[in-house]
Amino acid sequence: RIKIKELLATKPESQTVTVKGWVRTFRNNQFISLNDGSTINNLQAVVELNSISEETLKRITTGACLSVTGELIPSLGKGQAIEIKVKELEILGDNDPEKYPLQLRNKPSLEYLREIAHLRSRTNTFSAVMRVRHAMAFAVHKFFNDRGFFYIHTPIITGSDAEGAGAMFRVTTLDANNPPRDEHGKIDYKEDFFGRETNLTVSGQLEGETYALALGDIYTFGPTFRAENSNTTRHLAEFWMIEPEMAFYDIQDNMQLAQEFLQYLVGYALEHCAEDLEFLNKRALEEEQAKPQDQRSELSLIDRLKFVADNDFQRLSYTEAIDILKNSNPNKKKKFQYLVEEWGVDLQSEHERYLVEKHFKKPVILYNYPKDIKAFYMRQNEDDKTVAAMDVLFPGIGEIIGGSQREERYERLVKRVNELGLPEKELWWYLDLRKFGSAPHSGFGLGFERLILFVTGMTNIRDVIAYPRFPGNAEF
Ligand code: 4AD
Ligand code: MG
Repeated sequence: RIKIKELLATKPESQTVTVKGWVRTFRNNQFISLNDGSTINNLQAVVELNSISEETLKRITTGACLSVTGELIPSLGKGQAIEIKVKELEILGDNDPEKYPLQLRNKPSLEYLREIAHLRSRTNTFSAVMRVRHAMAFAVHKFFNDRGFFYIHTPIITGSDAEGAGAMFRVTTLDANNPPRDEHGKIDYKEDFFGRETNLTVSGQLEGETYALALGDIYTFGPTFRAENSNTTRHLAEFWMIEPEMAFYDIQDNMQLAQEFLQYLVGYALEHCAEDLEFLNKRALEEEQAKPQDQRSELSLIDRLKFVADNDFQRLSYTEAIDILKNSNPNKKKKFQYLVEEWGVDLQSEHERYLVEKHFKKPVILYNYPKDIKAFYMRQNEDDKTVAAMDVLFPGIGEIIGGSQREERYERLVKRVNELGLPEKELWWYLDLRKFGSAPHSGFGLGFERLILFVTGMTNIRDVIAYPRFPGNAEF
């Protein structure tokens, strides 16, 4: 068996080949358009008249799975260089078009396809998205490997709460109907599998830091879980995150790496996923055209990718951003749902998008956020008000990366942990890092699905992961 991607790159030198795949269309009882998932392109297999039994012909339907053997010849038709002249044809899996969920609707919507997530992989859109997703995962490893970073597998089940956000999924083997209780009537987690409360990780950062302070440069790449209300087009309850952590990097080095990383990934997609991107570009254009004129994006998907790959990101402090937002509204017209009135508030996605899409018209890195809206581990600046945090904001996406320089000074960190009422005792191992050979270090987290959204031009995060997890949905 040879894959279609490989075949299409070969010359038709009257060789006999076998191809296996699924029927996309079957025209005139003669022309089979076959796809095997290796590429967005189909291979045409031509059935000679009377060479196949009536009964078999009837079974060649859209969605059926076939094995086709025949001679590779130059194609007479338009749009393809080669085709197969069928000698043998075997039906591997029948498909009844009357019952096939993908064919029950003309142009099935993305919403409908989410309900048949086990079949949507057979559409051009989802197979293209998944091939790009694969390429991006590979490029992540290549980028870091080429720079001497080590891939660390951090635990999925943890006893810690890295972000202090409290939105975690509990992991327990206790009987939900009849859990053991302590003398105060509270559930006694000492009786639980691990002898304590545990949850699914929200981030591998803290464990990653322990290895950065031993191996220098590391990264994690794994699933993370948040039990927050993720009923938006940008949030999932289960998503994949890439978290590099670098010893001896300050916040400037961190911003530089984040930019180079994103530009590398986007450049890699342009170079290695050209055919899928061309298809997705057309798809995105059609979607844009369905929108009102003033809501259409100025650049096509591919132009947007090229722009990001080739231009420096705009860096500015949170304080500068607040000034821009305040002054963006001289007439006090209700431009934002949430008005930015004072320094210290968290920015909403509408503000982030204003900065990126309207004001600067390029990716933005915001840094030095108020400490009260950021996590406990971020390095405190000398002004006593801000921390060395950074967020990378992308057009159409909003926050794609969040990161910071870490607080490496033991006393300062303990003080902050206590100010925030976090459990100092449970963080003993994290605090130890600052006691024994501490070092300045920095890192960030890239939400993998947000990257895939940007690169594929898809608009809902539920459409760039095979089986999305969100409130009320774990069917598959
Ligand atoms: O900003 P976040 O919460 O940062 C962290 O978790 C840090 N521990 C990262 C670090 O410094 N090592 O999340 C990082 C990124 C966000 O910028 C966003 O892209 C993505 O993860 N993200 C989500 N993606 C999909 N669904 C969600 N619910 C997400 N929450 C965060
Ligand atoms: Mg964040």
